Amino acid sequence: MELEIKKLDLEGYMGPYKLLEYPDCQNILNEKYIPRKLYAWQKSIHEKSAVVTNLASHPLILEKLRKVLGNNILLWGSIFIQQKPNSEHPWHLDVEYGSCKGLTLWIGLKNLSEKTSISLITHSHNIDTAPQELKKNNNINIENDNAVLESAKKFNPNCELKTFYLSPGEFIIWSGRTWHKTSNSSKKARETILLQYCSTDNIVKIPANYEYPNTEWSDKKPPCILVSGMDKINKNIILDKSKILLSNNFINKIKINIIYKIRFKLSSFLRSIVTKKIN
Ligand SMILES: [Fe+2]
Repeated sequence: MELEIKKLDLEGYMGPYKLLEYPDCQNILNEKYIPRKLYAWQKSIHEKSAVVTNLASHPLILEKLRKVLGNNILLWGSIFIQQKPNSEHPWHLDVEYGSCKGLTLWIGLKNLSEKTSISLITHSHNIDTAPQELKKNNNINIENDNAVLESAKKFNPNCELKTFYLSPGEFIIWSGRTWHKTSNSSKKARETILLQYCSTDNIVKIPANYEYPNTEWSDKKPPCILVSGMDKINKNIILDKSKILLSNNFINKIKINIIYKIRFKLSSFLRSIVTKKIN
């Protein structure tokens, strides 16, 4: 087994790796203006974005994924994440991996520096609980690195906390169930995109709540894209990738970069005024 695959299998992560140059990052980031109401659920921007679908099918990404997932791979989740200045997303496990086994890619796009971090706890992907459950049952403070690490070590003493400071265009891969947290202590909003994959023999579900392990599931099925190989199992909704890629035309570019962008900025501005009034 290759060294990096061994690492993923044992420790729960691979990378970071360099993927994109800065102009590409900006081009990808513009896709966040596509209105949320046009796609099925929050992690499904690939449905309406040729650019995201293309990124998710990048040869370097697929080369890494195939080594772990085999040749038949679905993209089931894609979401742009903006992390506000001086904020944190505390330790958690992405609950969707309660229903399927797979991999998560976290790609840096804008305003990443030594003040924006992604942290993982190695070996946590093989622990049969999650920070959310430890908080609920044992009152563990999931904002406290040491408290979460010490809890993990009770299950596996080899657990270690690893923190990475990616640059725009770099990505890291982790096994879906790996515990992670992000933080931004800079003065700028940090922008990333998350891509989530599994092999075609999984059944992917949309969570109706973010409890773990008592996750409730929506009746709606997540639309997926076959990014590699064939789907002979037919357990999921598969979109027509070629149709999505065809949407990368002049009209759609204008729509995204002008109409949707103005709408997005205007509604963000109005939201910020309402929030200020409430506070
Ligand atoms: Fe997460």
